[in-house]
This record gives sequence, C-alpha cells and structure tokens, in this order.
Amino acid sequence: MKKVLITQMIPKEGIDLLKEHFEVILPVDEEKFDRESIERESKKVDAILTQLSDTIDETFIKSHTNIKIYSNYAVGYNNYDTSYGKKNGVIMTNTPDVLSDTTAELAISLLFATSRRLFEARSVIDNSEWKGFRPTFLLGQDISNKKIGIIGAGRIGQAFMQKLIGFNPEFYYFNRKRNLDIEEKFGAKYLSFDELIEQADIISIHVPLTEDTKYLFNEESFKKMKKNAILINTSRGPVIDEMAMIQALKNKEFWGAGLDVFENEPYISKELLELKNVVLTPHIGSATLETRRKMSILAAKNIIEVLYERKPITPIY
Ligand code: GLV
Ligand code: GLV
Repeated sequence: MKKVLITQMIPKEGIDLLKEHFEVILPVDEEKFDRESIERESKKVDAILTQLSDTIDETFIKSHTNIKIYSNYAVGYNNYDTSYGKKNGVIMTNTPDVLSDTTAELAISLLFATSRRLFEARSVIDNSEWKGFRPTFLLGQDISNKKIGIIGAGRIGQAFMQKLIGFNPEFYYFNRKRNLDIEEKFGAKYLSFDELIEQADIISIHVPLTEDTKYLFNEESFKKMKKNAILINTSRGPVIDEMAMIQALKNKEFWGAGLDVFENEPYISKELLELKNVVLTPHIGSATLETRRKMSILAAKNIIEVLYERKPITPIY
C-alpha cells in the first residue's frame, strides 16, 4: 500500500479521503512532526502533504526521490524550491481558488478594523477609560468613496475588489501584466507601483513572495504614500521591509496598517506591538471552517490523482 506523510494535523476530511486509498502517517499525539521526524518519515512515503513552515529545498528533494508529489496546504508556495522542482520534473501542488474569498474577507476585516480603530476602541472600554460620547474621540476614516489600490490583482486581489464595490471605490491596480478584464469589470486603472502608492488612500497587498516582490515596500515607498493611507497585508510578510514600515508608522508617514503576515513569523517585533495605528492578526487569512475543509480535500485529492498516475488538479507549474 502506498504511503502518505502529513506533516501537521489538518481538518479530517482530507485525511479520511487519503485513508480510503493509502496508509497515512500523521502526527498523532502532537499537532505536528518536528523537522527531524519529517526528514526521517519522508524517506518511507510516496507523497507528502506540507505546510508553509516546511521548507522543501533542493537538498530535501534530492534526498527524497521516493516522493512523487509535494502537496502544499496553502496557495502560496515560497517554501518550495519550484525552480529546482520544475527543472527536475517533480510534481508540486498548492490550494488556489478555494481560499480566495476567505482571504479577501480577512483583508476587508483588517481594513475596517484599521480604519475605525476597532482594537483601540475596545481597549478603551477594557481599561475603563471611556468617559462617554465625545465629538472628537477615536476618529477613524471612511472606506466609502476612497481610492483603493490593489498590489497584485490575481484571484485574491480581484475577490477583494469585488466585495468592496458597494463602497463606491475608485480602483487602481498594479500587476505584473496589464489585465483588460479587470479594467472593464472594476473600472480599475493600471498604474505603476510608484504611481499607485502615491495616489491610493487604501493599499491592499495580494502578490506572492518572489525575488521581485521581496521588500517591494521599503523606506522610499512609505515616503511616497499619502499621510492618510492605510496599508493592508494578507500576502507574505517579507513583501514589506518591516523595520522600515515601523519607522514610517512611528513618524506618521502614513496612517495605519492591518497586518496578517510578518517578516519572521511567528516572531513579532516589540516595536510593532507597541504601535497604536496597527491591527495585527496571526496569519489567519484562510482560517475559516469552510475553507480549511476545502483546502484539506483539495490537498488530498492532488495526492490521490498523482499516486494513481493521473494529472494533479492544481499543479504549481
Ligand atoms: C497562506 O498563507 C496560503 O498561502 O495559503
Ligand atoms: C494569489 O494567490 C492570487 O492568485 O492572487
């Protein structure tokens, strides 16, 4: 019987599917296998279902030629050496589409929480500091009628735009390629990165992490942004130079940030924690019951297809 390694506990739907066909090796007592166990167990299996925290580099791939498919439980795959994988015909898959709405919803949650200062507001109540209604107290910013800039207008970026249409936005987008469909559908204007960050009131990041997008937002970018700008990041932490962002927020170069991802997860710098004009969540972009179930099933189905020598459903390349 073929064997599948799951490096970290996932919702049971995908596990049950795999168990119908294969022997499944799971971290039973603990939430996840440590790296050493993964290295060891991987030698015995035909497929592996990984998390973002599992680095699959050239060395790992070379020493596990028994593995027929790497199935990542995420849409992002910066933990995989895809250029080595592609060159050497290794099958690698991810979980796109099923999490686009959910991730867009978190980006919107962060946007509202940041613009209306929801966590600051709650802490005023928790600290018994509320003295009653005051006209100049805890003033936020509207979302309606704003210039909204999307960095990376892929599936998640487009879902974000779609959901915000009711707020009468003026959309701008920056993307690797111009996309006339997006322009027609959302009345969005294609801008260069610098033009976009100079003009947008709200900026939401939806690019994958690559060599080109690492530190896309740096010291100079923050200086170009509007003073009232709100920055939302649900993509990958290293797209932003975090130290530069912290300095810019301290100096009030822009208004605030809603962040679900960080440069060195799960570490969060003390300086970031001390800032008031940020809303922080612990990488929960796709974390809903419905979506995590769908991801579990899709990650499992990719393995089933490949181990039965059929094509994967969502190959990375
Ligand atoms: C999560 O960050 C993902 O890439 O799915
Ligand atoms: C990201 O995964 C995207 O497709 O936009």
